[in-house]
Amino acid sequence: MARFEPLPSTVLVTGGAGFIGSHACVELLDHGYEVIVVDDYSNSAPQVFARVERLAGRFVGAVYELDIRDHQALSAVFDRHSVDAVIHLGGFKSVSESARRPVDYYDTNVGGTLSLVRSMQEHGVHRLVYSSSCSVYGDAGSGPLDETTPARPASPYAASKWLCEQILADVCHHRPDYTVLCLRYFNPAGAHPSGLLGEDPRGTPDNLLPFMAQVAVGRRERLRVFGDDYATPDGTAVRDYLHVMDTVEAHRVALDHFADAPGMHVYNLGLGKGTSVLEVVAAFSEACGRPVPYEFAPRRPGDAAALVADVTAVSRAWGWSPTRDLTDMCRDAWRFQRLNPHGYECSARRPEPKDC
Ligand code: WQD
Repeated sequence: MARFEPLPSTVLVTGGAGFIGSHACVELLDHGYEVIVVDDYSNSAPQVFARVERLAGRFVGAVYELDIRDHQALSAVFDRHSVDAVIHLGGFKSVSESARRPVDYYDTNVGGTLSLVRSMQEHGVHRLVYSSSCSVYGDAGSGPLDETTPARPASPYAASKWLCEQILADVCHHRPDYTVLCLRYFNPAGAHPSGLLGEDPRGTPDNLLPFMAQVAVGRRERLRVFGDDYATPDGTAVRDYLHVMDTVEAHRVALDHFADAPGMHVYNLGLGKGTSVLEVVAAFSEACGRPVPYEFAPRRPGDAAALVADVTAVSRAWGWSPTRDLTDMCRDAWRFQRLNPHGYECSARRPEPKDC
């Protein structure tokens, strides 16, 4: 039963300078929202906002450099702005890195979420879109996974996400006026079609697409394919890649559905199609016009053989489905990398992206 609630107009985006966050800011600004950003720039750069505003043709309402675990600093943002809803993207997100830094992952992902929810409660904000992860399913087999699949997190990263989901479910149980829309991302990839925004992680990329893009542009010698002995058609691991523009479109659509029903609602975000590492390599080679050099390496700890989404639930609930495919992802990711061989670092010296 839908409840009458005014649609949100001012949205706080945590991690708004990051890969998903920066694309989300453009999507929200393009659709008339007032956007407030908090980010600690641990895996992002402030230069991104000049590009966000160029694409949107309007300004981000305010950007605050802060760690969301700093509860006083975060609450001051809520004091200054009448926030209607929060999109919580801020956090660490590497499966492999989390095995090396478990305490940091729990502290940042769980501690940060607790600090955020406390600030929301103190300021009467009761609508949250939460960025979760398909990694909560663990190695759950090759079939498409729906939201009823038991959670078997197999890394500290996945466990931190699952813990946050349970915290948010308890908050909603305790506070019937709260609505949490929990989006379990599969593998966001690609870039804004303009080539102005893309994935530019600090240091060595953990994820397949950005690492491969840096190989293709000459920053790295070759890709290591982690494992060629999985029980998959070509022996390499299978994932469900989703264009980052589809990913952030789903977040914007979510904002229209807080009034559908209170409580916590969980949705998979994916294409609903499995693609192996070698198939991604082939698609990216096609996009950049030359073979991407690679070699096989041992499996990476914590990796699942296959993770593919059943995306029926979000389509039924919101009437939304992704529209972009792997070709679009590779084309757009390559355009960003080609125009920004060293990522946003170049824009520190030159305001416009160009072949560096
Ligand atoms: C994909 C495949 C690797 C790098 C991601 C996000 C995580 C979560 C789940 C959102 C795997 C292989 C990778 C490389 C490789 N999403 N690979 N060589 O591990 O599925 O996790 O999706 O929350 O945040 O990180 O993505 O891109 O790291 O790996 O062979 O240099 O590519 O083994 O099979 P992953 P990934």
